[in-house]
Amino acid sequence: MDNNSLISVKDLRTWFELKRWGFISMGFVKALDGVTFDLKKGEAITVVGESGSGKTTLLRTLLGLARATAGEMIFGGRKIDSSDERDIQWLRRQVGFVQQDPYGALPPFMNVYRILKEPLVVNKLPAKEHEQRIRESLEEVRLIPLNDFLPKFPHMLSGGQQQRVVVARALLLRPMLIAADEPVSMLDASVRVEILELMGKIQKDYDLGVIYVTHDLSSVRYFSHRAFVMYAARLVEKADVKDIVENPLHPYTRMLLNAIPDPEPENATRFRDIPPGEPPSLINPPDGCRFHPRCPRIIKGLCDTEQPPEFQPAPGHFVECWLYK
Ligand SMILES: Nc1ncnc2c1ncn2[C@@H]1O[C@H](COP(=O)(O)OP(=O)(O)O)[C@@H](O)[C@H]1O
Ligand code: SF4
Ligand SMILES: [Mg+2]
Repeated sequence: MDNNSLISVKDLRTWFELKRWGFISMGFVKALDGVTFDLKKGEAITVVGESGSGKTTLLRTLLGLARATAGEMIFGGRKIDSSDERDIQWLRRQVGFVQQDPYGALPPFMNVYRILKEPLVVNKLPAKEHEQRIRESLEEVRLIPLNDFLPKFPHMLSGGQQQRVVVARALLLRPMLIAADEPVSMLDASVRVEILELMGKIQKDYDLGVIYVTHDLSSVRYFSHRAFVMYAARLVEKADVKDIVENPLHPYTRMLLNAIPDPEPENATRFRDIPPGEPPSLINPPDGCRFHPRCPRIIKGLCDTEQPPEFQPAPGHFVECWLYK
């Protein structure tokens, strides 16, 4: 096993059973359906994909909040059995979670001090360390002067400040990985870049592993080394950010990039354009390549019948597409 590896995931699947009246099985939502990747210690990756492609499920599975149905996950050298409560408890301590909606993520009846103290108490950190950890985390996210922020309740903070508290809470237990689920999509455009830059700085300062999930391909450059493109519950392209942006190979990645009108930060609000057509159902995904009903380059008789395996047309550049056979 590579000493430098933080996460190694093979053929990970998370399926949710659909039930009528609570007991009649209506099939499965295959929200993660064969995902394989490695993340090195201190490496930051962006996972980009349209709404409903399984991004949140990927993070929830890595956090142990959703249980993997099949596949293998090794985290920090430890093999995780998603049915073993001890593994899941251990895993949760290693990952700091930054949720999409900061207001929903913060308990409304607690002030910032109590919000930050709680994980320390739950995880039984020595009481004499609490004060210092809380102060350090708040300084890290620039909520200063601290004494102004500690007594405040979430509704007294702006969206950007709330998300800073969420990031501070994610850092408290000194995790090995930060999992950030569209951390700026619900914030005003004016504070998005600030929060992304803050996260990029924290990633570098602590040499943290980061998985940043977004529907917005143009925000990859803020702190990612590599980018993964997710489509219909699979990672269809994985490469260094530069290669994804300058030399995208998968027809879906090309469509996503074409949908970005301008990569300049001041246009950071114009990310919502998405390629024409609908992503497929995850209950009955299409046969063959899942992108084939939308693909301008479909090879009939192949793409519509056989799932493309992963090809590696250039070193470190992986793509699930028959064009690269
Ligand atoms: N707990 C759940 N039970 C049933 N279906 C779910 C559950 N969580 C997510 N899904 C479904 O899985 C699919 C992927 O959802 P999600 O991971 O939230 O995608 P994304 O974050 O990319 O928008 C969606 O069809 C969603 O409805
Ligand atoms: S495998 Fe075929 S349908 Fe799928 S993206 Fe490649 S060319 Fe298009
Ligand atoms: Mg999501």
